[in-house]
Amino acid sequence: MRIFFKTSKIFPLLFGVTACVTAAGDANLPLFKSYSNKNSQRVASDYHAQGTDGMVVAAHPLATAAGVAMLEKGGNAIDAAVAASFVISVVRPQSTGLGGGGFLLYHDKEQKRQRIFDFRERAPIKASSSMFIDEQGNYKKIMFNGQLVKDPAIVGHLSVAVPGLVKGLVETHRELGKLDLRIVIAPAIEIAAKGFPVYLALAREIKDREQWLRLYPGSRKVFFLDGKPLEAGQTLVQDDLAKTLQLIAAHGHRDFYEGDTSRKLIAEIKRGNGLIDATDLRGYRVIERVPVSGYYRGHRVVSMPPPSSGGVHIIEMLNMLEQNDLSKLHPRGATYLHYLTEVMRRAFADRAKEMGDPDFVDVPVHRLTSKAYAQKVSASIDPERATPSSSIGLSAPTGESPSTTHISVMDRWGNAAATTQTVNYSFGSCVVAEGTGVVLNDEMDDFTTKPGGSNAFGLVTGTKNNIAPKKTPLSSMSPTMVLNKEGRVELILGSPGGPRIITAVLQAIVNVIDFKMELLDAVHATRVHHQWMPDTLRFEDGAFDNDSKKRLVDMGHKLSPIESVGDVQAIQREQSGLMHGVSDVRSDGKPGTPAHVKELK
Ligand code: GLY
Repeated sequence: MRIFFKTSKIFPLLFGVTACVTAAGDANLPLFKSYSNKNSQRVASDYHAQGTDGMVVAAHPLATAAGVAMLEKGGNAIDAAVAASFVISVVRPQSTGLGGGGFLLYHDKEQKRQRIFDFRERAPIKASSSMFIDEQGNYKKIMFNGQLVKDPAIVGHLSVAVPGLVKGLVETHRELGKLDLRIVIAPAIEIAAKGFPVYLALAREIKDREQWLRLYPGSRKVFFLDGKPLEAGQTLVQDDLAKTLQLIAAHGHRDFYEGDTSRKLIAEIKRGNGLIDATDLRGYRVIERVPVSGYYRGHRVVSMPPPSSGGVHIIEMLNMLEQNDLSKLHPRGATYLHYLTEVMRRAFADRAKEMGDPDFVDVPVHRLTSKAYAQKVSASIDPERATPSSSIGLSAPTGESPSTTHISVMDRWGNAAATTQTVNYSFGSCVVAEGTGVVLNDEMDDFTTKPGGSNAFGLVTGTKNNIAPKKTPLSSMSPTMVLNKEGRVELILGSPGGPRIITAVLQAIVNVIDFKMELLDAVHATRVHHQWMPDTLRFEDGAFDNDSKKRLVDMGHKLSPIESVGDVQAIQREQSGLMHGVSDVRSDGKPGTPAHVKELK
């Protein structure tokens, strides 16, 4: 199919008449190039499922299976999402866990409304904006067992923020779930107690973080065997975690925040001079927030508001993109990729300047998501030239880790859940609280930990995101839904990947709506990423051919390869009611649909 033409009528709208010429070289490109997962033996159909009785898509087959089992027992989207969440905590300890936090977007089919549950980690009461730096403005020297902890905001006890995942899942389930909590947590308990085979990506992450996991006795106990990091094919058994989960099944979140588990968590934090105490745990609150929403070519897009930057910038970028008829452009052509990059650059500059916890700082959500603003900002896009990032914006963005995980669920009634959860970097702080099996997060690093300094990704951070007691660090997590004109959910999606969450979700939406790709292609197609600073266009292998590459370089883009942009887990519901689940080929996920559904009275 030749979807491109030389004398585009659309560019004069935004770019003026000179822009028409830039489209010429895109005509001969194949429609898109699938991303290929070089590490996997799986084939495309392993990443796709379809059915009408519900769908669960998660980044590990055991988590998907747990969610599907809940749907088969007559449970709803929340039962499935919560069951899958507890299992993913067990099988992806590098990404998420009971010691982490997250967001859940829920669509209530009956009431036709969406709700957001924010159970992200919060700064301890004793935290302060200078807690990581000494008088000279350098990172403090923190020692543990005679070893220097080089990056105290990323590794070790000081990096831990008050975890919210357990309270978030239990409270959301209590309000919206149908099944007994004990049934919902049972799969996670069983997998933690019996163990599961370590897969390649997990083995690689353990090896990557070996130095720090080895330092902390609780972590050594879980992730090492006979003094060596666990390898692929060996079994990861987590007895202590199974017991902690049993207490949650029996008592809800009480024991975790006020009982025996909480005392063990605090004892661990004290061992490494961290800040969290009993008051922090007891006082943790889940916050219900109003979703952020906008319209894109007639579809309603609903997503995560601040303290995530994700939803605002997805809508802001869609508003900018909407000014052109992208369906006339080639998804791998230089014209589209230049435009997409310029849009990303501008949104991420705003992220740096404007974003933080809305309970502490003023975040201009309405302005950033308005059509008028998008028009004004995108007027500065030059169709021929990349705009140097240094000429846009005032400060710089925060960056997050490539860890994190996302689960999408739809039940047969049309209720939907999208939840993104994290411990931040791989294995969070790398500290497992002794006697609990709980991997503690390092979410404090999502704050500005050193004014004017850079984080582990070489990114400089902004002031609205300074640390304060009880404040929530800025996130990029973007559980998102797209609804049709009748208010039915037609797309559910999200991703891990720090700032790349935002651009991965954006590109998947554009692939579906503008390029009319089937969901499998929309998720698997190559992606690019720009986050304003550093001023680099990151691209996956195959994102463009040599001609397009040359044109992008000629326009002034600084290109740099990247292994992958995000790991999208998505569901699409056709008008007929048929649901498609797609896991991203970039990771180890799997979609699943119920075989038999039991009717609940
Ligand atoms: N820690 C990753 C995020 O919240 O965006």
